[in-house]
Amino acid sequence: MTGTVTEFNYPILLIASDDPYPTYKWMRDHDPAHYSAMEELWVLTRYADCSAAFKDWKTWSSERRGNLINDIPERVGKSLGTSDPPKHTFARSIVNKAFTPRTVADLKPKVKALAQRLCAQAREKGTIEFVSDISAPFNAAILGAMFGVPEQDFIQLRHWLDDFFKREKPRAGEEPRQVVAMRQLRLYLDKLAEARQKEPGDDLMSAMLLAEEDGRRLAMDQVVVTTMTFLTAGFESTNNLFTNLTYALSLHPHVLAEVRANPDLIPAFVEEGMRWDAPAQGFVRSPTRDVELHGKLIPQGAQVLLHIGSANRDEREFADPDRFDLHRADQRHLGMGQGIHFCVGAPLGRVMAQFLFEELLPVSTRWEIDLNHAARVTTPNFRGFVQLPLTIA
Ligand code: HEM
Repeated sequence: MTGTVTEFNYPILLIASDDPYPTYKWMRDHDPAHYSAMEELWVLTRYADCSAAFKDWKTWSSERRGNLINDIPERVGKSLGTSDPPKHTFARSIVNKAFTPRTVADLKPKVKALAQRLCAQAREKGTIEFVSDISAPFNAAILGAMFGVPEQDFIQLRHWLDDFFKREKPRAGEEPRQVVAMRQLRLYLDKLAEARQKEPGDDLMSAMLLAEEDGRRLAMDQVVVTTMTFLTAGFESTNNLFTNLTYALSLHPHVLAEVRANPDLIPAFVEEGMRWDAPAQGFVRSPTRDVELHGKLIPQGAQVLLHIGSANRDEREFADPDRFDLHRADQRHLGMGQGIHFCVGAPLGRVMAQFLFEELLPVSTRWEIDLNHAARVTTPNFRGFVQLPLTIA
């Protein structure tokens, strides 16, 4: 990376390039509180700054501008990830009551059985398209089971979720795709919530409708929006995690050999993968007051990206950060966030990833990715693949 600080403008789709990490390093070293005039976005790239901001919600609000880059105004202030206390505290405590360690424990047999079935099918095929053969049906079935969404609706749901994260400029006279997708998803979930209200089932939506905190319940509207957060967060992040882990194994044959020989290392592999190539590369916050940082003044109300992808490779925090190291003693990565918004789905996401690789590695004799036919996710907050051909046998 060359160029002077004044010339450089962080482009939001840099995260979709093959290797954005050298540029992140340049930013950490030369311009750690960067302003991209082109994107009207501040970018914090050092671990200490991101970590401090994640933990200080009073200064770094999620409610002023949401938590995604150029977030949809209709979402801001209405979901878990786009609200501050006290609104966030109330919604999160309801979610914690409905989505408990028990929920994950109860889902484990289903996760295991499904992972086994999908991996056995993959073994028969030899060459698979990882996203459509494994990741998407795996996510659809697990999240579907959690929320009681009928399986036949999941293909449609997946299309809406895919569009939801797009940030393309619409053609003249057309509505942005993410706005259309959000509306349709909303209508679908409204109907589902009404049905659950009338006839509660053994699912998370019913549990959220029934859970109480200080005698109060979440309004149906909030249950719908929270479900949307779960589906969008769950779908996108897990797919990105699985595909990044798959790709990382192809780049590091010694890691592949080690986890194959010793499956007890799979949890460590998942954690290090989340650090090394973070599926959620960054979330937005907006300062509630002017903040001075590294000689710059970030004005209150600005859009600021806390760059997880970069923070996780900060040499000020991690020894030899570019190395994929299964034996890192101290894993303090920010892959699942930090502070009050720390990922609610973390235990489930971890279990899903661990079970999947526990099943897939033993049935594989090869591990070859066809990069010529792979395609990356092109959204500004998440990094992973939408298409990833993989030969395992
Ligand atoms: C496995 C890969 C996953 C990764 C890397 C990941 C990452 C993250 C991160 C970084 C945040 C913090 C957002 C912020 O600070 O603004 C977050 C929040 C959240 N995640 Fe995850 N996530 C994953 C899986 C899941 C799953 C499976 C679910 C649902 C079942 C989920 C649901 C949520 C929700 C609801 C929030 C908002 C929490 C709040 O604001 O209080 N995530 N996730």
